Amino acid sequence: MSEKFVFTIDGVEVKATQGQSILEAATEAGIYIPSLCYMKDLIPHGSCRVCTVKVDGRFQAGCVQPAAPGIKVENDTPELMEIRKDIIEMLFVEGNHYCMFCEKSGDCELQALGYRFGIAAPKHKYLFPDRKLDATHPEIFIDRNRCVLCGRCVNASRDVDGKTVFEFVGRGIDKTVAVNSDANLSDTDISIGDKSMDVCPVGCIIKKGVGFKTPIGQRTYDHEPIGSDIERRKG
Ligand code: FES
Repeated sequence: MSEKFVFTIDGVEVKATQGQSILEAATEAGIYIPSLCYMKDLIPHGSCRVCTVKVDGRFQAGCVQPAAPGIKVENDTPELMEIRKDIIEMLFVEGNHYCMFCEKSGDCELQALGYRFGIAAPKHKYLFPDRKLDATHPEIFIDRNRCVLCGRCVNASRDVDGKTVFEFVGRGIDKTVAVNSDANLSDTDISIGDKSMDVCPVGCIIKKGVGFKTPIGQRTYDHEPIGSDIERRKG
């Protein structure tokens, strides 16, 4: 078993093992570092930067930055909260996130972060993208206007399902998630039971016909803010 070492987050001592990221060690210790693209059991992508922390005075992404003995991590500071809020706001305006009409409402991690950070109306200009929808598959639907480019579906399809159904194409503002390059979903070997079907943090990849199985009011973030499950571990 690897040896434990200690570092601090906001002055509190946290134990970690070799190979753990700052976010993983924090989570185990009951300290919530807001995150979006990170998902347990998937290789971290480090793309959204919502988990930005300061490590010995330098900005780092907590989900990909390894914990190390003696480092001093800042997490819950007004400066970092402002940066994260800005990132979340930019994600909202960069896509079309009509939460009140979206079947992922209440289970959506972006929406939940918006609530946790008290975002009422983003200060940035909405871009209103017009990206390709794909409803060709009998059981699965993609609305790329809600994609936050987290990369979870790409990683899950490649590393867990062994299918490489999803990939990124384009650069900058034109970057989008594609299915086997130019194909439609119905041309791929994706299946409703794939891991990639269960990882989208927003309402981009949706299973048809089950969206309202859990009524509004009984969904994951309807009763407590995102991160509460982690904070409860502290006792
Ligand atoms: Fe760390 Fe997205 S959660 S970069």
